[in-house]
Formats: sequence, structure tokens, C-alpha cells
Amino acid sequence: METFFATCPRGLEDVLSQELQELGAKEVRATPGGIECQGPFLLCYRLNLESRIASRILWRVGQGWYRNEEDLYRLASSQPWPEWFPVECRIKVRIIAQHSPLKSLDFATLRVKDAICDRFVRATQSRPEVDKRQPDIQIVVFVDRDHVAWYLDTSGDPLFKRGWRKVAGEAPIRENLAAGILRLSGWTGDQVLLDPMCGAGTFLIEAALMAKGIAPGTGREFAFRHLRNFDQTAWEQLRQESMRSTTTDGPAVSIVGYDADANALAMARKNLQGLGFEDIQVSQVDVLDVTPPAPEGFLVTNPPYGVRMGDRLELQDWYPKFGDLLKQRFAGWRVYVLTADSRLPKLIHLAPSRKIPLFNGPLESRLYEFQMVAGGNRKSARQAKQRAKN
Ligand SMILES: C[S@@+](CC[C@H](N)C(=O)[O-])C[C@H]1O[C@@H](n2cnc3c(N)ncnc32)[C@H](O)[C@@H]1O
Repeated sequence: METFFATCPRGLEDVLSQELQELGAKEVRATPGGIECQGPFLLCYRLNLESRIASRILWRVGQGWYRNEEDLYRLASSQPWPEWFPVECRIKVRIIAQHSPLKSLDFATLRVKDAICDRFVRATQSRPEVDKRQPDIQIVVFVDRDHVAWYLDTSGDPLFKRGWRKVAGEAPIRENLAAGILRLSGWTGDQVLLDPMCGAGTFLIEAALMAKGIAPGTGREFAFRHLRNFDQTAWEQLRQESMRSTTTDGPAVSIVGYDADANALAMARKNLQGLGFEDIQVSQVDVLDVTPPAPEGFLVTNPPYGVRMGDRLELQDWYPKFGDLLKQRFAGWRVYVLTADSRLPKLIHLAPSRKIPLFNGPLESRLYEFQMVAGGNRKSARQAKQRAKN
């Protein structure tokens, strides 16, 4: 059994934990920002290929106790790095510290890198090259007060880089965050899904990949191919099996996107076409003019929120109108809105049934759920004020 750590956007730990168990991980344990789990080594191929929510899959190769930079040097020197990857690999060392006594993380990183290189010199008379931008192998070192754990990153590029994005809009949401939100919403692929401010189409595409059973990592490479234990046959077999389980010729799922901006739509179309998802239609509509494409369904969206785009004052007038639209036209729908703008719950004049804290990159955000029951969500201005204070 090997130990892995799957990192994820903060707030998605519970849904990632469920997903990893479905993919065969054992001894699954959630910690803030990620999930520790166990399984045979080949589990990491499957998690890299099929997890929609993880950001990276790290393989734990050792651990120990330390007090200072020199202990880290000594411990790193004693790990058998040349047994795990060849000297030709370009490496990068990244230290993640929590409550650590280390005075300088830069210096500690340098000492660990020296230790790894010195170990290679002892074994092979040559040292690996350091490449901070495009390493073949990234060594991730977690240090807390007195404990250090050594990991090899088996993913390479973070897993939200699915390989399908031809173009990105002005403020695209990360793919794994979008997939995590779809999972939090309870959408299962059988219901209508609408993103009325779809931008470059991230929610639509993640939804389509889910509905068609397409593994998110089908079109990309992973760092585990650089490891000495890489099993090409097992990997190919897994990839083929995964491709066989897709349902690309199944019934068309009803996934619909709108946006007011023609450039955003052009990007969405390009991304959809790149994947062969021409059955997903996107059209230019202002969200306030939207009519629901079905009597019920899931509306999932991240509106502009005045940090990266959109004007804060305009949004202040827009939220009540958006709330009115949902109330008047979307009875029977479940609505999920991700925003970093804390004014939304007060100004939309609807009572959220759930508020889930999530990080959209560095932006502390919330996912608001509104269950639109005819006549049931409107709240008085006083109630709204009270709730917003709490
Ligand atoms: C934060 S971005 C959404 C990004 C998208 N989820 C993605 O991954 O690319 C917000 C989007 O709302 C659109 N938008 C802004 N005001 C709108 C309006 N009144 N009606 C429809 N779309 C609007 C913008 O054009 C932009 O594409």
C-alpha cells in the first residue's frame, strides 16, 4: 500500500473525499486543502486520470522529524532519490510550511535541493538540473512544527489543466472548482443544466464531461511517466478502459449556456468545438432577458463580482434584478451562484438554503444555493438584513 495526498481548492475536501473513495482509494482522511488516502501504486494513475476535483496527486515517499535546515539536509540526503527517478529529470523543490520554526523557506528549499543533488552525485557522478518553470519531477516537502513529509508530485501540470481549453475568458473559473461545484449541487447529468453567464464555458464543459463519462485527464500527460516505476502497459490499459466507458453517442444531455458578451461566446464555442461538443448550444442573451429552457433544472453560474471584472456599483443595482428574475421565471429550479462579493446575499433578496465557503484561486468566495419554490424564497428586506448580519 502507498500513501497519496490529493490537493484541492479549499472547501471541496468533502466532495473530493467521496470522489476518491468511488475511484478506489482507501483509508481516506480529509485535512484542510486536501485528502490523504491509500492504495496500490497504480491508484495514482487512476486518480490523475479520473478525479475531476483534485488539483494534484502527491505520492508520499518518506517522512521524519526535524528542527532546522540542517536536519532537512541530512534527512533529504538519506532518501533514495535515484531509485525513484533518473538523473536526467529536471527537478523543482517546493516547501509548504505550517507553523514551522524554519527562518527562511528559500534557504531550506536550497538545502533540500542540494541534498537531493548530492545524493545523485554519490550514486551517478552527475546531478539533476533544476527547472523551476517546467520540471519533470516536482518534490513537495510538507513541514510543520517538527515533522517533515517528502512527496513526489505525480501530476505535473495541475489537474485543472485538462488539456481542452483552447482559449480562456477574462475570469475563467478553474475546471476542478467548477466540477466540485457541480458535484456539491447534486446535479447528476440527467437534469437540464443552465449557465446564463457562461463566459468561456467552463461549467458547461465540465458538466458535459461528467454526463458523457469522459475522464478529465484523457487528453494530457502526467509526471508519473518520468518515475522509474512507470508501468506503460498498465497505464495504457487503464486509459483504454476509461475511454471504453464513455457514452459519447448516448442521448444528448440538455446543457445550455448564455452570455451577454459576443467575445466570451466565441471562446465558449471554440472550446466546445475542440471537444466535439457541438450539441451544446450557447447564445447571446442578457441574463435579465433569459427564459428558462425547461420547467425545472439546475442553474449554476459565477457572475462578475467586481474584483476581476464588472463594476461594484453596477452590481449593487443588478443583484435585486437578478433575484427578481429567479423569483419570477425560475420557480422549480435549483440555483447555485458562486461569488466573492459578500453583498450578494443581502441584495438578491432571496433566502439561500445553503452557503458553502470555497476558494476560487486566492479569492475567498461562497457558493449560495437557492431552491426556487413558487412564492417561497422572497424574504422581507428586514429578514434579509438580519441574515446578512449573521
Ligand atoms: C466571471 S465570468 C464567468 C466565467 C465563466 N464561468 C468561465 O469559466 O469562463 C462572468 C461572465 O458574465 C458575463 N456577463 C456579465 N454581465 C452579463 C449579463 N448582464 N448577462 C449575461 N452575461 C453577463 C460576462 O460576459 C462574463 O463572461
